[in-house]
Amino acid sequence: MKKILKKCLPPLVTDAYRFIKKKLKTAPAEWEYVSNVWPAAGIHASVKGWNVQEVLDTYKRKFDLFEERLKEVSPLGFSPEFVSKGSNNLVLHNTNMCFAYVLALSARGNSSLKVLDWGGGIGQYYALSRALLPQIDIEYHCKEVPFLAEYGRQLFKNAHFFADETCFENSYDLIFASGSLHYSEDWPSLLVKFAKASSKYVYITRLPVLPTHPSFTVVQRAYAHGYNTEYIGWFINRAEWLKSAEAAGLKLVREFYIGENPVVHRAPEQCEYRGYLFRKG
Ligand SMILES: C[S@@+](CC[C@H](N)C(=O)[O-])C[C@H]1O[C@@H](n2cnc3c(N)ncnc32)[C@H](O)[C@@H]1O
Repeated sequence: MKKILKKCLPPLVTDAYRFIKKKLKTAPAEWEYVSNVWPAAGIHASVKGWNVQEVLDTYKRKFDLFEERLKEVSPLGFSPEFVSKGSNNLVLHNTNMCFAYVLALSARGNSSLKVLDWGGGIGQYYALSRALLPQIDIEYHCKEVPFLAEYGRQLFKNAHFFADETCFENSYDLIFASGSLHYSEDWPSLLVKFAKASSKYVYITRLPVLPTHPSFTVVQRAYAHGYNTEYIGWFINRAEWLKSAEAAGLKLVREFYIGENPVVHRAPEQCEYRGYLFRKG
């Protein structure tokens, strides 16, 4: 059959077939299992982490359109990177509406809210929060890598951006981390810091959790997103996660299903992205 097809098809088609086959064979998977521990620093030169210019450039590219859409009363099914005029994405809508619930609960009975957004990019959740609760005075603090913190500071003059952990010298009504806590090697210690610096709620979302398998690390090669970098992150066993939260003094209020499920090459178990709202004490 292969021989017959080779004879019948024009060379352009067979060449294209060979090219695609070769590419698929050589390109490493976007997501890949690494190990059951955090790898040593400098594991590979291409693992540059998050503090790179191209991540900032990608975050900035559609930010104006993102802010424009936040002014509408239409569904919030978009993010700074996945936004276009009029279309919506169910996972992003779900992520944003879960956040809306958390924000409203945290602000209940008050006219102001002090928040810390760990890994908040250039302040997208600040813009979203103001659109969701325009009647609440939101004091926004964000901890990020230096490139993003520096730009966030320019973009939102009345917000507070940190590139180090002095953010923990303050206390907050709500501390949240969306898709970011698992990029810290020692995430249990970070969770303890969140618990100490929060006076009411801690919300960890877009967290990759494993139903049964012990925690392991993965690499994401994020070239398709324009980031020009690779980074390491944890996929965390759900029972271990809940036990660590309890040990940090956090009481689970609600678990959320996010619906973002990356497929990881060579992983012994696939993850599900979940959200967890905890109350202090
Ligand atoms: C997947 S993005 C999520 C961005 C945003 N929170 C969201 O949900 O759309 C992960 C973010 O975590 C940030 N990040 C990674 N390690 C961090 C660290 N040690 N401290 C603060 N932010 C970090 C990255 O720079 C990046 O902006």
